Amino acid sequence: MSFEPVLLRNRGVPDVQRLEVYQQRGGYRALEKALRMSPAEVVQVVKDSGLRGRGGAGFPCGVKWTFLPKDHSGPIYLCVNADESEPGTFNNRILMEEDPHQVLEGITISAYATRATTAYIYLRYEYGRCYRTMQRAVDEAYAAGLLGRNILGRSDFHLDVYLHRGAGAYICGEETGLIESLEGKRAWPRIKPPFPAVEGAFRKPTIVNNVETLACVTHILDRGADWFKSIGVPPDPNNPRDLGSYGPKLYCISGHVNNPCCVELPLGVTARQLIEEHGGGVWKGRKAKAVVPGGISMGFLSESELDTPLDFIGPTKVGCLGLGTAAVIVIDDQTSMVDVLYNSCRFFRHESCGQCTPCREGTEWMTKILARIRRGQGELSDLDQLLEIANGIGITPGTTICGLADGAAWPVKNALTKFRAEFEEYIRHHGRHHDQR
Ligand SMILES: Cc1cc2nc3c(=O)[nH]c(=O)nc-3n(C[C@H](O)[C@H](O)[C@H](O)COP(=O)(O)O)c2cc1C
Ligand code: SF4
Repeated sequence: MSFEPVLLRNRGVPDVQRLEVYQQRGGYRALEKALRMSPAEVVQVVKDSGLRGRGGAGFPCGVKWTFLPKDHSGPIYLCVNADESEPGTFNNRILMEEDPHQVLEGITISAYATRATTAYIYLRYEYGRCYRTMQRAVDEAYAAGLLGRNILGRSDFHLDVYLHRGAGAYICGEETGLIESLEGKRAWPRIKPPFPAVEGAFRKPTIVNNVETLACVTHILDRGADWFKSIGVPPDPNNPRDLGSYGPKLYCISGHVNNPCCVELPLGVTARQLIEEHGGGVWKGRKAKAVVPGGISMGFLSESELDTPLDFIGPTKVGCLGLGTAAVIVIDDQTSMVDVLYNSCRFFRHESCGQCTPCREGTEWMTKILARIRRGQGELSDLDQLLEIANGIGITPGTTICGLADGAAWPVKNALTKFRAEFEEYIRHHGRHHDQR
């Protein structure tokens, strides 16, 4: 598929992390354009583009910005979610390491639109190189008058940007967990409402957006909403819940492929296209047994579902939770789904913050059952027990504060419906199933 990359257009350009080189390639032109418009006009362009959040939930970005109180006179904060802890996801890291000013330009335009005067980049702790690259870019932008007071000579636009290194847990990426952590506390998600746009960081109106979402804002301002809408998939007119999947997307491909990579493509490519055309095919000449469509919390596609379009609605049509982070993880046909599911459950048990009993106990219980099955002490009734636990935890059944529990439950639900025969066979053979590798 031929497609001109936009978010990754500067990838591999020598020294493009430096402001001077970024500007030579048209950088900060979009900011200048935005500053010739009013904040409300910028919000409208982003709304018109149909840009949906790239952090996992796919909420329309411009619409979120309109939730900020109109009559607010105190500070407004922009929190840039760069925690990126969903397994298999590394697109934010690539954007920040390889083109930090593109991200910073998107942040500055978005702060102007939302009237935020402080932006916090909440950065996954392990991302040391990102931290250094982004901090250098921030320093350069201050020195050039692109950050700080009176940006580009505008007496009414000031923005301070701070990098905040994360606390090293998956839950720090949940937007209210992130805010708690930013405030110096344990990253315990807050009960919503109030949503952050009304009461967020330091109890002030706050917008939380993902790094890739904000990088898209740069190009929407540069090239216009119609350009953005010409890429991707329009909404299905027969589905009122489909808001469309517009724009380019960074897809991460990892797991059992020959060429793990991050590629930029129009939203809506299929998992098969990603694996065959970009991931170099399944490794060792094997076939895919299952594919994670967008981070492990989204569940699994079976081999027969690989032609599912990876847009915001496609994965839900085959029982997955959603597109998530569009991080595709390939699992080959010689890998045991019992092992994969055990690993997934172990991850979520470890990452549950423990506030909600169904999540804390449910993730523990599912992990223990799977550990027992792997020890050869499983019973067929364990499978229904696992499903019952999975169906009872999360925002979907309404028993938890945040979506971590849904993310823990979905791989279980999908594995036990799409690969049930393998689990039954494993249990019948008392786990004396040997990995063939
Ligand atoms: C457990 C959990 C972890 C999350 N981790 C991240 C993350 O690492 N990065 C991210 O951008 N969003 C993450 N999210 C989603 C955020 O809560 C929020 O929806 C997102 O940052 C909003 O930005 P967007 O609208 O630009 O996508 C997570 C959500 C949950 C429930
Ligand atoms: S669902 Fe889990 S991670 Fe989220 S707040 Fe409740 S206990 Fe914490």
